[in-house]
Amino acid sequence: VIKICETIQSIRDEIKNRKRKDIDALVTFVPTMGYLHRGHITLVDVAKRDGQIVVVSIFVNPTQFGPTEDLAAYPRDIENDVRLLNEACPNAILFLPSSKEMYPSGVVNLSDATTATYVDVGSMTTVREGIARPGHFRGVATVVTKLVNIVQPDIMYLGQKDAMQCVCLKKCFQDLNNPTRVVIVDTVREPSGLAMSSRNSYLTESERLDASLIYRSMKEVASVYRTLSVEQLQEQLTTKITSNPKMVVEYISVANGSTGSELSPSLDSIPPQSIISLAVFFNGQNRKTRLIDVLIL
Ligand code: PAJ
Repeated sequence: VIKICETIQSIRDEIKNRKRKDIDALVTFVPTMGYLHRGHITLVDVAKRDGQIVVVSIFVNPTQFGPTEDLAAYPRDIENDVRLLNEACPNAILFLPSSKEMYPSGVVNLSDATTATYVDVGSMTTVREGIARPGHFRGVATVVTKLVNIVQPDIMYLGQKDAMQCVCLKKCFQDLNNPTRVVIVDTVREPSGLAMSSRNSYLTESERLDASLIYRSMKEVASVYRTLSVEQLQEQLTTKITSNPKMVVEYISVANGSTGSELSPSLDSIPPQSIISLAVFFNGQNRKTRLIDVLIL
């Protein structure tokens, strides 16, 4: 069964002990916020293939949630997470810190920058997801830097679904000379095409089917992107998605695949490898849910 470590000291000791038995063992690391699904487990499968000491973290990081976002409502089910990890990788180490363990001086939210050290990848303030969630990437870069300083993995695994998170953390590690290698894993989808997400639990079964319109629409415009300007692609995609009145498009971004920087709306030919990424509010019967997805051209 998996080994659960709740303190920084105990996970450091556990990793050190395992390395002592096998000095060449590679440490592979999958950071998560829990409520695990097949997307997360796919990252764990790849981490298990690549390394001998597999570490997974579950920590719902308060510093990456904005004051009006869903921190309190974020779904949690540790028992089920442990069960899934036991099935996927029984000799994994699960790092399960409390908020106090990660932020002993009691960082409450993004606006509290008075007492703490933050890692801020400046370029993220100009990407659409960064504009939509002020301070979000600062929280992500900060907590992942802390986690990686604790675990000191050789390789860390991230999901492509969170495309701008991948851009942010790659830039962060590069700029700070962090030697951990970053591996990006393809987005895992439900049979309908909907990207798997812990937040899908906010939707009913039939709302999830409705939400699969997002990916279908992205695929449709992607198949003709060579004939479209950036602006036309954004317009056509908006029209397709909002054909369901429950959908409100927050933004549709078309960006350079490696830097994440926005392409100009007037650009007539969209280069291959560009990233279409978007955020859509789905007004379900229980609550308004923010869904993101990504497609690489
Ligand atoms: P979380 O949303 O739990 O996601 C953890 C990892 O799983 C991320 O790298 C994410 O991109 C990946 N992931 C989620 N859904 C996926 C899917 N359908 N297919 C493939 N990969 C998927 O992202 C975070 O947590 C946090 O921001 C974190 C990096 C842990 C920092 O707090």
